[in-house]
Amino acid sequence: MNTIGPETKTTERILITGGGGQIGTDLSEALAKKYGADNIFCSDVKFENTIRDGIHELQLNVLDESNFERILEDNKITTVYHLVSLLSGTSEKKPLLAKNLNLNPLLFLLEKAKAKKIERIFWPSSIAVFGKGIPKHNVSQDSVLHPESVYGITKLAGEELCRHYHDAYSVDVRSLRFPGLISWKAPAGGGTTDYAVEIFHHAIKNQLYKCFLTEYTALPMMYMDDAIEATLALMSADPNAISVRGSYNLGGVSFTPKEIANEIKKHFPDFTITYEPDFRQAIADSWPSSIDDTPAQKDWGLKLKYQLPDIVNDMILHLKKP
Ligand code: SER
Repeated sequence: MNTIGPETKTTERILITGGGGQIGTDLSEALAKKYGADNIFCSDVKFENTIRDGIHELQLNVLDESNFERILEDNKITTVYHLVSLLSGTSEKKPLLAKNLNLNPLLFLLEKAKAKKIERIFWPSSIAVFGKGIPKHNVSQDSVLHPESVYGITKLAGEELCRHYHDAYSVDVRSLRFPGLISWKAPAGGGTTDYAVEIFHHAIKNQLYKCFLTEYTALPMMYMDDAIEATLALMSADPNAISVRGSYNLGGVSFTPKEIANEIKKHFPDFTITYEPDFRQAIADSWPSSIDDTPAQKDWGLKLKYQLPDIVNDMILHLKKP
């Protein structure tokens, strides 16, 4: 068996929820490398109970609290990366499921941490917390938050819960407002920024992509490698260095569908993009085009490696491999 060995000696025992999703696929490998595969319990509703590359894979529906509790206890979990979420497009269509799935398991975990059953939680928030009343560019950490999507409303409520459980009960919960994430290992699903992942698969398959946003819709995006680095840096930061206990802004890089298409054309000169905006355009229009992440840089050293040309090069390199 090809087990991923630890770089860091640890007593941490880590549970990932939504481990088969876009973030979880990359994060589980990175955590296994850092903490040792045997300390990683990667769960997903679609997994079977098995071992993969030394990582424990577990079947878990996070709405099933008794199974959730049993998994935490049986495996002596200390830290949870709680990634399960319904993204913006799907949340708008299934608001009740979005409310239940995006908030109930987070609250369940915050209660477990309050009762000292677990030590630390990571929870992803999103640029979707921004909405009415924001400047379009360089939106600051302390900007007003009036989200205009069901998804954004659940993420804002989650941020407020995280802040409250930290301030009132000293729960060590840490969070990042992810921009659109671009990666090749696992598909995105149900989000407004998914076009920036889909576009690569279509470019490679038939050099043609119909985009569901307009050509001028600039949004903040980030390559998964940078998102994973940021997550690991935040989670290993000194608790006293963390000044934001709601969720940190992450700026990434900002570009439009037209700009990414032009970059892809450098690799596939015949690539063609057409635009047919759907209901996700209104969601995208409510989000900022760029974000200021100075507090994350100052508090725990956020750094960005991948600009748009690097992202496009790396995506095509990996997706073209047979
Ligand atoms: N990528 C997410 C979405 O589009 C935003 O956090 O829903």
